[in-house]
Amino acid sequence: MSDTSDPPLMAACVARYGSPLYVYDAQAVRDAFCRFRAAFPYQPTECHYAIVCNKNAYLVRLLQALDAGIHANTPGDAYAALAIGVPADRIVYSGTNLTRPDFDYLIANGIRLNLDSLDQLRDLARQGGAREAGLRLLIDDEDRPNRIGVTPAELEAAVGIARNGSLRLTGLHMYSGTNTLRASRFLAGLDRLIAASARLPDLEYVDLGGGFGVAYRHGQPPLDLQRIGAEVTLRMEALSAERGRRVRLLLEPGRTVVAAAGTLLVTVVSVKERGGRRYVGVDSTVGNIVVESVYHPFHRIEAVAPRGGDLDIPTDVCGNTTHSRDFLARSSRLPTLHPGDLLALRDVGAYGYAMSSHFLNRPRPAEVVVDGGETYLTTRRETFDDLLATRVSD
Ligand SMILES: Cc1ncc(COP(=O)(O)O)c(C=O)c1O
Repeated sequence: MSDTSDPPLMAACVARYGSPLYVYDAQAVRDAFCRFRAAFPYQPTECHYAIVCNKNAYLVRLLQALDAGIHANTPGDAYAALAIGVPADRIVYSGTNLTRPDFDYLIANGIRLNLDSLDQLRDLARQGGAREAGLRLLIDDEDRPNRIGVTPAELEAAVGIARNGSLRLTGLHMYSGTNTLRASRFLAGLDRLIAASARLPDLEYVDLGGGFGVAYRHGQPPLDLQRIGAEVTLRMEALSAERGRRVRLLLEPGRTVVAAAGTLLVTVVSVKERGGRRYVGVDSTVGNIVVESVYHPFHRIEAVAPRGGDLDIPTDVCGNTTHSRDFLARSSRLPTLHPGDLLALRDVGAYGYAMSSHFLNRPRPAEVVVDGGETYLTTRRETFDDLLATRVSD
């Protein structure tokens, strides 16, 4: 049984740290990362955890201990990683629309850059200070509207810009889109990327990005990571043989590493039944969590210590505001519930706390990590003062 499925431990966490509460199972993160990493036997492979989905310092450190680097989507991601103690040479930035101060910050800190437009490549060349860069490639049909990356046809111009700016173009990056559950999407993207890479004489790495999906619903077929890993290895071996040198493989998994390790514990406040439906009000809100109405993943919800089987009545779990979309779960099946009971919203380790906000003015929950039976408070609960922390006083 995982630590976050242990009812007395979960009740003890809430008694000690309050409710609502994010709880992460450290061992579940280790297991998910090792499973992911083992699926890619190709050497050399560098695995950069995408800190955008959860910047919890305890989890980042445990991933570092497993030899993970960090993927930064923004300069703020890089800042968070550096503040946790990740060395700059273990951070890879792959993002978009950097301003001059953004470039200054990333270059001053020696962070490797994957850029996503010719304009950004020109900016980097003008900036000086960097000697190499990678480019994000559009892996979809370039005749359709799409804001992402550079097209294969733009690569020749990119090589010219880099040459004139004394830069080497050493990498090509792709991103399949978050929560992708089809192995074929990654493989087709990689095929396009490898074909396009023929235009880059200085190619040193191929970055497969992130987007590895999670099966949030019962019975949903999981992403076939073994197949992706095996097929990617074959393609990378062929590319390396063709180039006469080992081309590095970079990976940027986020969600798949931490989603299942996170639970949001909430407490029932009131229960109503009417019109053939049950409405269970809890002490949390969509502002504390990302739910289907705001971002696509659906989350399973369960009673932490059920008194019996699920009742035959559709149950909506409602947040503690009257916002019309403030539902943590809709049409769930749950057992008898009374005020004071604990519910567990599962698989919220990725894009959960990270996407929580001050919308609706409910302070954010605390975060704790459970590791080897011990609990560690990693983020304190916010107060009303935090809601006004950036206000300039009159
Ligand atoms: C370039 C890039 N890599 C990796 C990730 C992580 O994605 P995921 O959590 O879907 O694996 C993101 C997410 O925004 C991204 O933009």
